[in-house]
Amino acid sequence: MRILNASGCLDALAAPEVARELDAFVTKTVTPLPREGSAPPRIAETAHGMLNAIGLANPGRDRFLAEHLPRLSQLGVPIWVSVGGFTAADYAETCAVLRSDEAAAVELNLSCPNVDEAADSAAEIVAACRRATELPLYAKLSAAHPEIAEVARAVAAAGADGLSLINTLRAVALDSRLRPLLARGSGGLSGPVLKPVALHAVSICHEATGLPIVGMGGIQSGGDALEFAACGASDVALGTVLFADPGAPARVRAELAAACEDAGVVSPDDARASAKSPETQPKVPA
Ligand SMILES: Cc1cc2nc3c(=O)[nH]c(=O)nc-3n(C[C@H](O)[C@H](O)[C@H](O)COP(=O)(O)O)c2cc1C
Repeated sequence: MRILNASGCLDALAAPEVARELDAFVTKTVTPLPREGSAPPRIAETAHGMLNAIGLANPGRDRFLAEHLPRLSQLGVPIWVSVGGFTAADYAETCAVLRSDEAAAVELNLSCPNVDEAADSAAEIVAACRRATELPLYAKLSAAHPEIAEVARAVAAAGADGLSLINTLRAVALDSRLRPLLARGSGGLSGPVLKPVALHAVSICHEATGLPIVGMGGIQSGGDALEFAACGASDVALGTVLFADPGAPARVRAELAAACEDAGVVSPDDARASAKSPETQPKVPA
């Protein structure tokens, strides 16, 4: 099981020593044009998780390729580039200019809750990117979709090599005067509150596709990571936990070994998909 960061949750150039503890570094989502992102405040705490409305702030494709990616590839860690956009062509054009000596894989962000523009369908985007690059393509999906397993099947048929599950869920938090804490109003909820939702999404998408899955959503410990393996994840990504604990990659790796011992499994691979999804449990007679 590899340990990655979740896109947008680690600045590898500002904290290279944290990035080097990872098995691969996933960039912040890159869009064709630069984006300022949403107005501040863009981050808020809630009782059960963190709310953000960063709005895909990023330097845009050209500056990312000219300035950021060459420096990231010096880190000595495989780089996964998170690609975003609003049309299939936006995504495919970025995939087409990524070189395999700089990028190890592409994660297609098909699921950002902080942008209003409608994107083309997930399968259409994956198909266009498949034609544009031979790099491994991971489709990052949202558990807000009522039929996430259907979307997973569709992106698998369109040529995705893996899935990244899940992105944040759209949510609102209010202050004492009943105004939204975020300037944008709503934002993406992340952290421990997401874990049960993410485990379910991983489980049903694993059943639906059998594709390799990077599981994420509220992972804080090695025990959490092992639960993702039990639901079908091959790898995991650490997101919100990195803001509070930059030492989380090494800690989670050490805890994972102990969690395997406690669970009586040799390795996370040994535990893979041992927990059946509720949909496949035999129905208990009433
Ligand atoms: C501040 C912040 C910024 C994020 N930016 C991105 C992003 O640019 N692209 C993306 O695909 N996901 C982004 N995410 C979502 C995370 O990658 C991850 O899917 C989500 O936070 C769930 O994991 P966690 O609960 O461990 O944080 C962001 C999350 C946070 C908290």
